[in-house]
Formats: sequence, C-alpha cells, structure tokens
Amino acid sequence: MTAAALIDFARRLPKAELHLHLEGSLEPEMMMALARRNKISLAFKSVEEARAAYRFTKLQDFLDLYYEGTQVLRTEEDFFDLTIAYLNRARADNVRHVEFFFDPQGHAERGLPFGVSISGILTALKMSRAQFGMTGKLILCFLRHLDEDAAFATLKEAEPWLDRIDAVGLASSELGHPPEKFARVFAAAKERGLKLCAHAGEEGPPDYVRGSLDHLKIDRLDHGNRSLEDADLVARLKDLQMTLTVCPLSNLKLCVVKDMREHPLKRMLDLGLKATVNSDDPAYFGGYMMANFEAVIEALDLSAENIRTLTKNSFAGSFLSDGEKRAHLAAIDKVPFQT
Ligand code: ADE
Ligand code: ZN
Repeated sequence: MTAAALIDFARRLPKAELHLHLEGSLEPEMMMALARRNKISLAFKSVEEARAAYRFTKLQDFLDLYYEGTQVLRTEEDFFDLTIAYLNRARADNVRHVEFFFDPQGHAERGLPFGVSISGILTALKMSRAQFGMTGKLILCFLRHLDEDAAFATLKEAEPWLDRIDAVGLASSELGHPPEKFARVFAAAKERGLKLCAHAGEEGPPDYVRGSLDHLKIDRLDHGNRSLEDADLVARLKDLQMTLTVCPLSNLKLCVVKDMREHPLKRMLDLGLKATVNSDDPAYFGGYMMANFEAVIEALDLSAENIRTLTKNSFAGSFLSDGEKRAHLAAIDKVPFQT
C-alpha cells in the first residue's frame, strides 16, 4: 500500500479537528496585514523574517512568539477574518467539525473585552455552518502561567456567553504549572455545564496527566504523549476511553519528538488508546490537518484501518451530540479505501 494511496484516503475521509488554537492559525501574511490595519509595530518587519524566526527547541520558545503575534488581533473583524481563513483551509482538507481553543486572557492583557474575540469567531462559525455545513465549538482556554484567580475572573467575564461555549481548556507553559493549580476553577466550570480538557504530557511528566484526571476531572486529554512512559497510566486512559488530541507536526517543531519516525501515534493506537490527529498551531508548525496526516503516513507504518480509526476517534471524542456523532461515523464507514 503506497503512502500516496493512504494520503488520498485520509483526504477523502471526513475529519474533526479537536486541538486547534485559533490564534495559532495566524499566518505571517495576515499578521503583517493586521499590524498595518491596526497600526501596530511588530518585532518582525516581513513575512520572511517571521517565518525564519519559527525555529523552536521547546514549548516556551514558541509561546513567546505566539503571544507576540496575537498582539495584532484588536477588533471583532480581525477575529472574524482569522476564523474564516482557518475554516477555509480546514474545509479544503475535508475537516467537517472543529473545536477551537481561544485565549481571552491573552487578549484581555491588551484591554480587549471578552465580547470582541468571541463575537468575531461566532459570526464566522455561523457563516460556515450556513454555507458549507461545517460545525464548530468553542473551548475557552485558561493560561496556566497565570494564576487561578485570573482564570476565575475570565470565567466570570465569560458568564453572558456560556451558552455559546462548550468547554474550558488549559494551555501555555506546562512545566512548573501542574494541573492541581486549577482544580477549583475547573470544578466551577463543570458546575456551569462546561466540558473539561487540559494540555498534559506534552513537555510535562506522566504525573501531570494523572493530575489532570484526578484533580481536573478532564473529559479529554490534549497531547498526552508522555503518558506512554507509565504503563499503569496507559491502562487507565484506555479504561476511561479517554480521547487524546495528538499533534504530530507540533511535536516535531517543539522537539517533543526528535524525528517523526519516533512519533508515538501508531504505538498509541496499538495500545488501544483513542488517539486523534490535529494541527495545534498550524501557522507556526508547518501545516494544517492534511499536512499532519501526510507527515505521520510518511513516517509511521500506519494501515488504512489505522487512518479510518483516527478519523472515527476524532468525531467520537468530540463534544457533538450522540446523534451527530453517529451520522459522521456512518459517513466515515461509507468511504472506500480504493476509489
Ligand atoms: N498554546 C498554544 N499552543 C500550545 C501548545 N502546543 N501547548 C501549550 N500551550 C499552547
Ligand atoms: Zn495546544
């Protein structure tokens, strides 16, 4: 079975993206255009200069640039344009459903009220649903380098919008910021009917994954790579049928893996874990959904059934209703490997 045939199959399968930071889809071209529109002076003077700076040895190297880039986002229109640009790219990869992380705390530091970002995003989601039948959900991401009081303040600001937010997440600098730091605000989010996800085991140890289960009571695990260092934890994740939102190109760019051939995605599937493929911050890490599939298909010995399973896991692990999940899963079953 050739890689080209497997890539073609992956392209034809309907897919859900469960780990996508909207702000991480800000391409340098749009960053420059928004800097001009909003009269903001950036550290980078050109698209080429920005791209040349996208070399990272660890998560924090990336986060420093990511927060620098998000500065250009100032108006509802900026968030609308950013969301539409991402949705157009995702649609080209046959992504049918997206669960977006967004960072209101990062934007509050620039004085943006909560309503500015979320209104622009929601308008874009409404349009793409009406035009293309693509669906989207929102995950309010708490920044773990800030304290829990700041997360509580953001949850309070989000109160008028909670009927349009599906979940909370936990992202930013992992090491030194264990999940228990956010146990109370996650409990408060759950009381408000929100689903719970957290980044864990990207750079942080298996204990941070265990802490996310025990203290945050997560419904979904973002990354989770380092869980594989602990057989008991793997057994627990398997038992819970916990979805892992794995991000291959991100892992390569942030040196979570040294070489794509060492990526744990195939091992995760072989262990019975519910792994999915996602792009994380595609503007910074070298590509969107299909670029991630291409990278793992070329590097790992994935079968056609592995690929079908990855796409099924993405809908099964989404926050869609059971009926919506069934419809997507049935559509996946109808896609033949060879056309
Ligand atoms: N924020 C945006 N992308 C992230 C990642 N890969 N890990 C942690 N925080 C992030
Ligand atoms: Zn992420």
